[in-house]
Amino acid sequence: MDYYDDNDNENLEVMLLLEAVNAKYGYDFRSYARASIKRRIRHRMSVSGIKKITEVIERLIYDKSFFTDLLGDFSISTTEMFRDPGFFQALRKTVFPVLQRLPFIKIWVAGCSTGEEVYSLAILLREEKLYEKSMIYATDYCNKSLTTAKEGIYNIKSIKKYAANYIQAGGIQSFSDYFKAEADSAAIDPSLRQNMVFSIHNLAADGVFGEMNIILCRNVLIYFNRELQNKVFGLFTQSLEEGGYLCLGSKETIRLSTYSDNYDEMLRDEKIYRRNSAPVSYSKPSAHPVATPEFVTKGGELIRDVKAKMEELDYLLNSVGSLPGQS
Ligand SMILES: C[S@@+](CC[C@H](N)C(=O)[O-])C[C@H]1O[C@@H](n2cnc3c(N)ncnc32)[C@H](O)[C@@H]1O
Repeated sequence: MDYYDDNDNENLEVMLLLEAVNAKYGYDFRSYARASIKRRIRHRMSVSGIKKITEVIERLIYDKSFFTDLLGDFSISTTEMFRDPGFFQALRKTVFPVLQRLPFIKIWVAGCSTGEEVYSLAILLREEKLYEKSMIYATDYCNKSLTTAKEGIYNIKSIKKYAANYIQAGGIQSFSDYFKAEADSAAIDPSLRQNMVFSIHNLAADGVFGEMNIILCRNVLIYFNRELQNKVFGLFTQSLEEGGYLCLGSKETIRLSTYSDNYDEMLRDEKIYRRNSAPVSYSKPSAHPVATPEFVTKGGELIRDVKAKMEELDYLLNSVGSLPGQS
């Protein structure tokens, strides 16, 4: 049991706030890194002119729109196209040649934010002639970010930086081919969305996605404490095919988790790991239920789309059989 002395009252208030958020709205931030959560709460207090955390608790319980704003604060959506270009170049040079041998490629981008990372991936897959046989599941728990991701319309001011990243990532076309530019915005070529499904998925609470060949989860786990990171690594390990790739952000590692032995380090600096054949011992039994009907209905149409497309893909996979090395 935790005890809070007089010097620790702020931590007690934060703990109560996170309990209230979980109990009232079902979002569990109790295992997020506390320093970052506190910064977000203070930001909301200053914007709303609130002096005490206990007042924040009262507001979020009785005022849903206040909670929505706070949720937006908790969800740090910073992203860009071809973020860390060296990573995308490594993916192209090291991982894509292996994917050429597969009949279909299933990719999960977890914590996709507003979609820039997913479209970057789609562009490289297309340039390597892999896109047509790929299905990308792009998930985030933040509905607002997902709405932007589905639209794929970005501020024109960002495009210059994205174009530079694209070249550093080994892009081989003219970057402008992938956009339709307007006065102050740039809309992604909609054909890049053809084999993509966006859906709500909360890494802290929802179940596994089956038989993925690649999982990208970059710059998300950095906000979680060690325990939640470990839980999510279990989720990924269950979701990845043997021989599948796990890609993390530059400041993230699987090495401190209990699943470390289940991965070989492919590229240390780019944080690309490959699931090996070592037996997996999940740290908690049934910690990661397979997606349930409840999960299927949570995102409404979107999730039904995922299910239909996954079933279609599974059917195709079964009908062509497996390649050597695939189970
Ligand atoms: C900093 S952004 C990273 C975006 C992108 N992966 C990148 O590297 O550019 C972190 C994203 O993780 C999402 N996120 C945070 N906690 C999550 C959770 N429990 N489940 C799903 N997504 C989460 C946030 O909503 C946000 O979009």
